[in-house]
Amino acid sequence: MSVETTLAIVKPDAFGTGKAGLILAHLEERGFELVAARVARLRRVEAEAFYVVHSERPFYGSLVDFMTSGPCMPVALRREDAVAHLRSVIGATDPAEAEEGTVRALFAESKERNAIHASDSVENAAVEVSFFFSGTELI
Ligand code: CMP
Repeated sequence: MSVETTLAIVKPDAFGTGKAGLILAHLEERGFELVAARVARLRRVEAEAFYVVHSERPFYGSLVDFMTSGPCMPVALRREDAVAHLRSVIGATDPAEAEEGTVRALFAESKERNAIHASDSVENAAVEVSFFFSGTELI
């Protein structure tokens, strides 16, 4: 295992209901160090680009609508084995299937409005961190 940096986004549903602080505390308690953070209102073209791998999926347009519906909070997080660990801490995409105590079980509304995004591989983590943060913004 090695120390990795990964990307999470507190999505507009959770940010809009004031859960960003609780979610970040939840992650810090699980050993993640916050190495960059910002509040962002994604433009349509940015949300489309971020989720381009899903562009052929039937939910793509709706996902882009949701991600541009209000502010969100992209954060870069560091710890040992961060990518896999964050995926397990946030739980399954659908909160109905997420394990008890995971971020999505605690805070998500639905499969789409699911509170948080996390990078799904070390390669994508590097791409996604640099989508939101330049090198000088990472401590
Ligand atoms: P995320 O981890 O950000 O990655 C892609 C997002 O698409 C996912 O979280 C959900 O918000 C959304 N998503 C994935 N599958 C579905 C689905 N079947 N219906 C609606 N939204 C989905």
